[in-house]
Amino acid sequence: MRNIRQIKNLKGKKVLVRVDFNVPIKNGKVLDDFRIKKTLPTIRFLQQKGAKVILISHLGKDGTESMKPVADCLKKYIKKNITLLDNIRKFSSEIKNDSNFAKELSALGDIYVNDAFSVSHRAHASIVGLPKYLPSYSGFQFEEEIKNLSLAFKKPKHPFLFILGGAKFSTKMPLIKKYLKLADFVFIGGALANNFLKVKGYEIGKSLIDNIKYDFKNDLKNKKIILPEDVVVISGKKLITKKVSEIGKNEIILDIGEKTIENLIKLIKKSKFILWNGPLGKYEDGGGEATKKILKFIFNQKNKNIVLGGGDLVSCISRSTPKAKSYKLKASIFISTGGGATLDFLVNGTLPGIKALK
Ligand code: ADP
Ligand code: 3PG
Ligand code: MG
Repeated sequence: MRNIRQIKNLKGKKVLVRVDFNVPIKNGKVLDDFRIKKTLPTIRFLQQKGAKVILISHLGKDGTESMKPVADCLKKYIKKNITLLDNIRKFSSEIKNDSNFAKELSALGDIYVNDAFSVSHRAHASIVGLPKYLPSYSGFQFEEEIKNLSLAFKKPKHPFLFILGGAKFSTKMPLIKKYLKLADFVFIGGALANNFLKVKGYEIGKSLIDNIKYDFKNDLKNKKIILPEDVVVISGKKLITKKVSEIGKNEIILDIGEKTIENLIKLIKKSKFILWNGPLGKYEDGGGEATKKILKFIFNQKNKNIVLGGGDLVSCISRSTPKAKSYKLKASIFISTGGGATLDFLVNGTLPGIKALK
């Protein structure tokens, strides 16, 4: 894959840059501009070399959202003249990866740059169609994602701890399978742990569970898997910490408990490489404490390689440790901009958007 550093002459060139400015917006304002900030090095580099930058992004699922809040946010950071096209998903041809549409888009520029890792799991026109018609390169953010996430499957440092939380067991199952082979410890929290606890014969009350067919029994024999020994449950209106053997029929698991947090901290201390995907509890409903504590602990580490990813986990970072994203950390901590793209890349080692640049 060629990077923008390798472009010989950018002076006067029109560069179409696919970015992922699909950011949370409320009342016309950007709530978290992490993804926008991450593309600034690419935009500034191209502008400094004399290129005319034309940004392409989607926002929301169906193309109905206005890019205005994003444009307002971008103006705070980019003072030079820049073009931001309208929400690309306004055109149904984008999702269909219509080749005529990609060709028409390509007429707007001389060069194509992908700096939108987090949407590169989608075979859409602006991701895989455009590079067929223009000389194509990766941006800095895109390259940085690949470099850091690859650490997990290309010679990771050991001990390697994989922390997996969140929900939707079916989407995370391939990750468990793969990283049971690569990691030394696989800690399972969030709603994913409920599936395991249930198979182990524990009462999990009315906790969230994914009813899928999976050979849990085999994994339960695997010594690498570490499950919560205590959890925070909602019982009536109260939050109580309980051993996993004491959960009542009407209770709901919201978070991992204190003892489990201690265990996880011990594992973090002895690991050199940590990959973490998905929150450890239902953070939207009072189950965010463990994630917050572990994040705080992780951000104070030194001499470790830490890779964090997942849309929800990253939004927990914004809520609880906003400074974490300020690029001034002592440990080598990488926060991925991706949700689905990060998962797919960690499982498959490539993405449609990466293949399209080759
Ligand atoms: P990520 O986006 O970081 O990969 P997921 O999308 O897999 O994470 O999962 C995030 C969701 O998991 C959140 O909505 C969170 O509330 C939910 N979750 C985590 N733990 C629990 C739990 N114990 N019970 C119910 N939902 C949970
Ligand atoms: C994301 O937010 O994960 C990316 O922007 C992709 O968005 P999508 O799931 O709507 O394709
Ligand atoms: Mg999510």
